[in-house]
Amino acid sequence: MTRLRLGVNIDHVATVRNARGEGYPDPVRAAEMALAAGADGITAHLREDRRHISDADIDALAVITRRRGRPLNFEMAVTTEMEAIALAHRPHAACLVPERREEVTTEGGLDVARGHNTIAPVVQRLVQAGIRVSAFIDADPVQVAAAKAAGVQVIELHTGAYCEAVREKRPQAQALLRNLKAAAAQAAELGLEVHAGHGIDYETVKPIAAIPELMELNIGHFLIGEAIFIGLGPAIARMRALMDEARATRAA
Ligand code: PXP
Repeated sequence: MTRLRLGVNIDHVATVRNARGEGYPDPVRAAEMALAAGADGITAHLREDRRHISDADIDALAVITRRRGRPLNFEMAVTTEMEAIALAHRPHAACLVPERREEVTTEGGLDVARGHNTIAPVVQRLVQAGIRVSAFIDADPVQVAAAKAAGVQVIELHTGAYCEAVREKRPQAQALLRNLKAAAAQAAELGLEVHAGHGIDYETVKPIAAIPELMELNIGHFLIGEAIFIGLGPAIARMRALMDEARATRAA
């Protein structure tokens, strides 16, 4: 099986920085450390309300990822403002996410089926600019088909519901995992590259990483939290090892 890439989301380093309005801890320094520790790329979400990552962070992340030849995955809402920022920076990848100001985090996937007429032209302009575009969607066959119809090259499956069900020991967890597997298979069949992310921790990473169609996981909040206790490099190394174990077990 192909090696699964790990994108490290450094948003919550900025959350801690912004809690005190100081210049530290610096998410750009965290991105440098993450890459040195084996992250394949860096993910950052510039939210409309700038609650964590700032415009200056994106400027600096674009520079350091380009210098190191590693991908920057720019998470963005489908708005005119974010499209202009993406086109100005031309990151390796843009991931289209839904955004509601009152939410604590990205609570569900993008409704590509209902938003087709707004989303498809944005996808087209980003793709024309050489950006690899993904849509962050729920593991729903209607959304997978709609993402394909909207012209994205990649989907990122929202793993939040599955991860939460595992943590809360809810019986639905296995059904949610089956939905992720089915959506991944459907997307690959349609010629889409498949990624996954949201809420992943050491416990949930292995069943997710074992889904054979997945090419990339994007993980943030848990890794930044774990970094408080063991350091960012060791937290990434442990996550990487669990991903590799899941793939090796599956291949055996
Ligand atoms: N992928 C996407 C599209 C996201 O919006 C997020 C959260 O910003 C993540 C992955 C990472 O989720 P978490 O921080 O829960 O690991």
